[in-house]
Amino acid sequence: MKNIVILISGSGSNMAAIVRAAKRERWAARFDARVVAVLSNKPAAAGLTLAAAHGVATTVVDHTAFASREAFDAALAAAIDVHAPALVVLAGFMRILTPGFVARYAGRLINIHPSLLPAFPGLHTHQRAIDAGCQVAGVTVHQVTTELDHGPILAQAAVPVLPGDTAKDLARRVLAQEHRLYPAAVERWLRTENADEGLRGG
Ligand code: GAR
Repeated sequence: MKNIVILISGSGSNMAAIVRAAKRERWAARFDARVVAVLSNKPAAAGLTLAAAHGVATTVVDHTAFASREAFDAALAAAIDVHAPALVVLAGFMRILTPGFVARYAGRLINIHPSLLPAFPGLHTHQRAIDAGCQVAGVTVHQVTTELDHGPILAQAAVPVLPGDTAKDLARRVLAQEHRLYPAAVERWLRTENADEGLRGG
């Protein structure tokens, strides 16, 4: 069984897109894969309600309860490891992770970032793309490394930046692509994993 754990901090729309895709595309039957849990560092994250509405177990590990980044990451890893995850999916999880955490999930930790990386890592990506005069913006799904918003690129989608766009306009256009791209990237990862297992088995 390939357990998928999704980490969120906010509205959880990417998480919900993945959960919906898992059902629609029958990941359980095709890849023996399930979204088993959604974890948030914020107790008030709207995505927690959304996850529960989809019947997915939720857990909160509130980062404000921990004295250090290392202590928080250790508690977060313990909560994740309960589910023996094959894949840990960061979906709007707005915390910088310690090198120890990243190493623990090496090769099975992915993130979505709302820019065409390596352009605009960090925050306020849409306003920065508009301010720079970009005519194209977009979204990247990548493997997580210790450097923030870096790592091998798994998938990208581009959208136009239109004259007069506000950051909100652009965010909305990019987010629509995120909801398509992230489930597709996870599914491709599952397909590759299955093929690898087939090779190992054979
Ligand atoms: C998404 O736009 C995601 O790309 C971004 O946060 C938003 C979360 O929305 N992530 C980052 O900026 C990470 N650096 P959601 O909670 O509705 O999925």
